[in-house]
Amino acid sequence: MGGAVAETPDFCPPPPSLRMLPFASCLPGSLLLWAFLLLLLGAASPQDPEEPDSYTECTDGYEWDADSQHCRDVNECLTIPEACKGEMKCINHYGGYLCLPRSAAVINDLRGEGPPPPAANAQHPNPCPQGYEPDEQESCVDVDECTQALHDCRPSQDCHNLPGSYQCTCPDGYRKIGPECVDIDECRYRYCQHRCVNLPGSFRCQCEPGFQLGPNNRSCVDVNECDMGAPCEQRCFNSYGTFLCRCNQGYELHRDGFSCSDIDECSYSSYLCQYRCVNEPGRFSCHCPQGYQLLATRLCQDIDECETGAHQCSEAQTCVNFHGGYRCVDTNRCVEPYVQVSDNRCLCPASNPLCREQPSSIVHRYMSITSERSVPADVFQIQATSVYPGAYNAFQIRSGNTQGDFYIRQINNVSAMLVLARPVTGPREYVLDLEMVTMNSLMSYRASSVLRLTVFVGAYTF
Ligand SMILES: *[C@@H]1O[C@H](CO)[C@@H](O)[C@H](O)[C@H]1NC(C)=O
Ligand SMILES: *[C@@H]1O[C@H](CO)[C@@H](O)[C@H](O)[C@H]1NC(C)=O
Repeated sequence: MGGAVAETPDFCPPPPSLRMLPFASCLPGSLLLWAFLLLLLGAASPQDPEEPDSYTECTDGYEWDADSQHCRDVNECLTIPEACKGEMKCINHYGGYLCLPRSAAVINDLRGEGPPPPAANAQHPNPCPQGYEPDEQESCVDVDECTQALHDCRPSQDCHNLPGSYQCTCPDGYRKIGPECVDIDECRYRYCQHRCVNLPGSFRCQCEPGFQLGPNNRSCVDVNECDMGAPCEQRCFNSYGTFLCRCNQGYELHRDGFSCSDIDECSYSSYLCQYRCVNEPGRFSCHCPQGYQLLATRLCQDIDECETGAHQCSEAQTCVNFHGGYRCVDTNRCVEPYVQVSDNRCLCPASNPLCREQPSSIVHRYMSITSERSVPADVFQIQATSVYPGAYNAFQIRSGNTQGDFYIRQINNVSAMLVLARPVTGPREYVLDLEMVTMNSLMSYRASSVLRLTVFVGAYTF
């Protein structure tokens, strides 16, 4: 192809502005001068306003065509007077123009750069309108500029073939800025309720944790984590954007926020139960010692086995209840020379000589007290059953009080009080003979009777 182009053509960029046209030159070696002039002018023309971005719609050599909405090549051979000097001829080219010697033959080999200049087809005049070409039957068919690379759409643009022409458009989600299609940052338009991620040509909404995209893919709706396997061990409460674990009564939430651990209520206080606190999962209960039953929730109450019938006393026995148990005693506790006169009373008949120095009667009584009572404590009152005018009664503890745990306080001539003097701890049992000595000085009469009191001390303070 050596002879095709006689001289190496200079490819001349179009002048950046019309003002520079007088200096435009397209001779070999003029590029350096161009650069120099550009520098010079730039420095010497500070008043030259920098063109705003919106004016640089198209790159050099193209101009904005409002009708077709894309950049159209400028035919510098027409717009620039004396684009080529001397004997050179001007050949328009996409984005610029060529100055060639008039003798140079032009071969249509510029397809890679864009559509050939119309003049180049002079040898085969096209009888069809622009954008059409004849087929074998000499009828005009549309040229598909898009597939034949005869378009000037930017790589960022989509080329659409039209009858007789073509159109460069921006893909969805792109907008034309200058000559290029630029991705629209949809996130600037607040399409998303929570977060927006811009994507080439589109966008995606995201939601904060605890939310999920609504049916419109933009709003965020609360996720009910409780319905979706939230890891709460016992109770789950959904709330806006999150959830809370709670525990049943008697449990407390572990530090992890999910699991529940049993509360040891018994460790909180020693007063929860009168006797013994037993921790159980989620609760506690009070237990009572044997012989007692729970009264309400925390108190222990002695079981009266004699009342409930839980005793095993025989027919000949009498059941005596005390704190924490019971005792079966012989109904007849009278021993010679005493004879029984009623359930609890034994008499020593005056006719019996053996009774001369003995108390004339012994009455059996039973009572029960709890451990560690505060002292002094009145525990039993003795009362003379028969009152004789002029008689004087004296009361004393005749036996059973070896350690001095009790004493008698006389109240008047006919009654006295048994007083517990020291705190005692059970289980323990006293048999106290409380003697009443009746004296009548006028009649020179002296009689003694005994109240045999059995005192059971329970093992507990209740
Ligand atoms: C939301 O996104 C899903 C998945 O990308 C899609 O199938 C659905 O059609 C979208 N819905 C709407 C209303 O855009
Ligand atoms: C108690 O005995 C005394 C002395 O014998 C006597 O003076 C007094 O009247 C008696 N009191 C009563 C209430 O019987």
